[in-house]
Parts: sequence; C-alpha cells; structure tokens
Amino acid sequence: MEIKKVCVLGAGLMGSGIAQICAEAGYQVTMRDIEQRFIDGGMNTIRKNMGRAVEKGKLSQESMDETISRILPTLDMKEAADGADVVVEVVIEIMDLKKQIFEELETIVPDHCLFFTNTSGLSITEMAAITKRPDRFIGTHFFNPVPVMRLLEIIKGYQTSDETLEIAKEWGKKIGKEVIVVNEAPAFAVNRLLCVMLNEAFFALAEGVASAEDLDKGMVLGCNHPIGPLALGDVVGLDTLLRIMEGLERELGDKYRPAPLLRQLVRAGRFGRKSGAGVYDYSKK
Ligand code: CAA
Repeated sequence: MEIKKVCVLGAGLMGSGIAQICAEAGYQVTMRDIEQRFIDGGMNTIRKNMGRAVEKGKLSQESMDETISRILPTLDMKEAADGADVVVEVVIEIMDLKKQIFEELETIVPDHCLFFTNTSGLSITEMAAITKRPDRFIGTHFFNPVPVMRLLEIIKGYQTSDETLEIAKEWGKKIGKEVIVVNEAPAFAVNRLLCVMLNEAFFALAEGVASAEDLDKGMVLGCNHPIGPLALGDVVGLDTLLRIMEGLERELGDKYRPAPLLRQLVRAGRFGRKSGAGVYDYSKK
C-alpha cells in the first residue's frame, strides 16, 4: 500500500511537529484542529522551526515554502480525513474523546485507511476495538520536540496485523525516525521509565531534598541528561505527565502514584512552558 495523503488530527506541539516531518518527507498533509487559534499556533510553530533552519543555512527558503504548501490546515474533519491513507490522531489524552473521534472517522475515510494514534500511554487495543479496522490500527508514539527527537515508538495492539506493523515501520523510516517496536503495556516502554523519574523529582522537590535548580543540575551534570527532570516536565506538559502517571497507577498500582505537588501545580494551571509557568516561570523569557 502506498501512502500519499496523511491526515494529522491536532495542531498542538506534537501534531504540528508530525505534520511538519510528514510534509518534509513529501506526503500531502492535512492538519486539523477544533479552533482557528490552535491551527494558527501550529502553523506558526512549523514556520518558526523551519525558519530557524533557513537562517542557519541548513534549508533553502524555496524548500521551506514547498514543504509548507503541502500542509493544508483546516477546521473541517471531512476535508481533513477524506481520501486519507493514514490518519494520525494527536488529540488530548482522554480515552472517550479519542474513541469518539475514531467513530466519526469511520464514516469519512476510505476502507484502506490506517489509523495511527500518538497516545503517550493509553491502550491501543481498547481504541482499536471500537473501530471496524482493529487490524489496521497501531500506536505511533513521537517525542517532543518531534522534528528533533530521533525515536518513534511503535506499539502493536492485540489485533494489529503484521502488515500494518510493516507499513508503520516503513512510514517511520521515511519520515526520518529510528523505530522501536513495543508490545502494548501501560505507558509503553519509554514513558514507563521516563515518567517515573520525572514524578520522583516532584516527590524529591516537595520533600526538600534539593531546590528545583539543583535537582535538575544534578541530573544534567551527574548523568549527562540533556535537561533536568523538572525542566523536562515543563517541556512535556505537567498535565500530560499527570495523566500518564494516573494511567500507570490505575493499571499497575500504588508504586506509580502521582506526586501531590505535580497534581497541585496542574490544579493551579501551571502546565509548564505552554502555559507560561510550571515548575519554573517562563513569562519573562
Ligand atoms: N522544535 C524544533 N527544533 C528544536 C526545538 C523545538 N522545540 N528546540 C530545539 N530545536 C533544535 C534547534 O534548532 C537545534 O537544531 P540544529 O542542531 O539543527 O541547529 C537543535 O534542536 C538543538 O537545539 P539547541 O542547541 O538550541 O538546544 P539544546 O542543546 O538545549 O537541545 C533539545 C534542545 C534537543 C530539545 C534538548 O534540550 C533535549 O534533548 N531535551 C530533552 C528532550 C526529551 O527528553 N524529549 C522527550 C520528552 S518525553 C515525550 O515527548 C514523550 C511523552 O509522551 C511525554
């Protein structure tokens, strides 16, 4: 099966990054969101990312314009998904919402269309089961920032066919990613390990083990991580991190209990970089 048109549902940080790399790989891309301001935000992120590469002389203005012309931003689900060979779902991590979207998609997309979900930890099998194509449904988990991070984690659901897996792996390579294949498990492989560490940093901060700056500095200088766990929480989004931890706790037990401080920051509306403040304040930067 040849993939020509890729429909990306969601124009946030992850959605816009996925739309960008798909367009760079030559696919015809639609990027859909529910409000114009999200669409505008997504297109601005893409222009900013690619503009930086043009400024550095790594990309020509002509290639940038050509890539961007392959992306059709839209609010209209039918326009976005009609005729798509692949839909990549990148909406907020709420299982019922995702299911609702896949049900709607079934009435629009052609039979051969594959469903990819960029969930960071929800069950692929459960989502696939409500569609008419559980064999053509698979998890494709990207990492933030999408154009920079080299990994694509591919997750097979219970009914995903080997053919779908092979197509997803090929697609991953074509969009410039290294692929790992993971069996379905709560939070998959990378977030199972990563989010536990990030969550632990919130316990340590609340217990007064060290300041936020020193906890981060410790992991950067002591373990060669590119960024400390609290600063990375702000990049990932504290609301997203909390949802992943809640999922892990629900599926695997108390060992994965979200740190109360993490919950409190989310309740305060401090979601991280995207809201202007999380563990750290970004309003003046
Ligand atoms: N979007 C696009 N490109 C970006 C970018 C962004 N947001 N931020 C940086 N870049 C690019 C820069 O343009 C630069 O490109 P070139 O090498 O071509 O010049 C390159 O990345 C390096 O950037 P900088 O030198 O400015 O900054 P840095 O050295 O601090 O690196 C980073 C930035 C690569 C993001 C680094 O901080 C890093 O690796 N952070 C950790 C990221 C991480 O762990 N992500 C996974 C999060 S978990 C997740 O996403 C899964 C989930 O479900 C929760």
